Amino acid sequence: MSTSRTSPSRSSLRVRCTALFAGLTAVGALLAAGTTGAHAADGPLRDLAAAKGKVMGTAVTGSKLTGTYGEIAGREFNALTPGNAMKWGSVEPVRGTFDWAEADRIVDFAEAHGQQVRGHTLVWHSQNPGWLDNGTWTPAQLGQLMKDHIATEVGRYKGRLATWDVVNEPFNEDGTYRQTLWYNGLGADYIAQALTAARAADPAARLYINDYNVEGVNAKSTALYNLVKSLKERGVPIDGVGLQAHLIVGQVPSTLQQNIQRFADLGVDVAITELDIRMQLPSDSAKLTRQAADYKAVVNACVAVARCVGVTVWGFTDSDSWIPDTFPGQGAATPYDENYAPKPAYHAIAEALGGTTTPPTGACTAAYSVTSQWDTGFTGQVRIACTGAALSSWKAGWTFGAGQRVTQAWNAACSQSGAVVSCSNASYNGSVPSGGSVTFGFNGSWSGSNPVPTVTLG
Ligand code: G3I
Repeated sequence: MSTSRTSPSRSSLRVRCTALFAGLTAVGALLAAGTTGAHAADGPLRDLAAAKGKVMGTAVTGSKLTGTYGEIAGREFNALTPGNAMKWGSVEPVRGTFDWAEADRIVDFAEAHGQQVRGHTLVWHSQNPGWLDNGTWTPAQLGQLMKDHIATEVGRYKGRLATWDVVNEPFNEDGTYRQTLWYNGLGADYIAQALTAARAADPAARLYINDYNVEGVNAKSTALYNLVKSLKERGVPIDGVGLQAHLIVGQVPSTLQQNIQRFADLGVDVAITELDIRMQLPSDSAKLTRQAADYKAVVNACVAVARCVGVTVWGFTDSDSWIPDTFPGQGAATPYDENYAPKPAYHAIAEALGGTTTPPTGACTAAYSVTSQWDTGFTGQVRIACTGAALSSWKAGWTFGAGQRVTQAWNAACSQSGAVVSCSNASYNGSVPSGGSVTFGFNGSWSGSNPVPTVTLG
């Protein structure tokens, strides 16, 4: 799939919806002119971030960068981090045999969309290839392997990546060094050696140490602070610290901004590198509202400190998040739901970045997405969701911008006249309660490009 579908003007891609008329019953504040993307000042996030001199990034999976996923990744973010594609186990699964396909794809996509790339990650204890983990190495061999790996990977992308997470997760919770392949073989100096090798391989890249549970002031973040201070004093190249920020709803550390500031005062940049805020499933509007406040608090803390360069979310959609696999029963941790509808968290991020509007407290929204696409056809869906409002019947309409045609629909009756598509509920799904949703689907034809239209909900 070419990336041409992802490059129409950003405003044309915003999914806007207005619920205006009959069938709408208010269960709280009524709503609906302007739900989801109807807040012009709310996005795209990358523009709001850029206006504040900040980065708004997301981790991505390279193979997914088409269709709706690719459109949102390209439209809303000005930085990408490969979620897995640049890890050692991904790029050199067999010693001396490299696979750069997914990493290259992400870097190419980023360049085509005017986005920075954060390289992730060079020296870690996890997701290493079996041959490395299971090998027996002298300290000299291990040091050489590490330096060669850095020279190869950083060198490959020299001049193209803004930033590298050079060392990932070096500390235990109590602030002692984590016992890893690297620490056990080379001692704590592996960190300085890795940074020095990365600087040599790409002098222009910003070099970071990245860790989790270092967002607030605590034993672990203080150990990181002391390490960075000592590296600076020794003249070791260190440009920034990454605070991963895998957080839990209601538990944003109160000392986040203070902690960011103390690192900044050492003379390094700070980035929030892997933000997600998980909750116990199922989500509900109270949890989503709390989550939005938490997202806003994190982004606010970064905005408040000049040397905080920005925030990256660890996946932008709940359908591409690591949380449910790792924390059974938890999830809904990202700013978009599994159907690519922006959640309250999205609007909260926008507001923290200077967006001037907030979503209405009661609203029904419609999110259009392309779920699959082939040479001449595609399958699309529209998800209608209500929070603090409800529908007893609905109509959803849009105007195709590039000659697309709906050929068949299910869970709705759709007709098309010229470019204008009108869909209304089936006999069994007109009712959408507050907190509920309905989804209808369709097949369509396209050629040339298949941009996402603006949906009007009524
Ligand atoms: O690619 C294989 C696939 O072939 C196989 O069918 C499938 C079955 O389990 O596994 C796939 O690999 C998974 C990989 O993600 C890609 O999806 C691994 O099992 C899974 O362990 C791996 O998880 C990644 C995790 O790092 C590993 O620790 C997550 O996607 C990734 O988001 C996560 O990211 C880390 C950061 O790098 C560092 N900070 C913490 C963060 C969350 O753990």
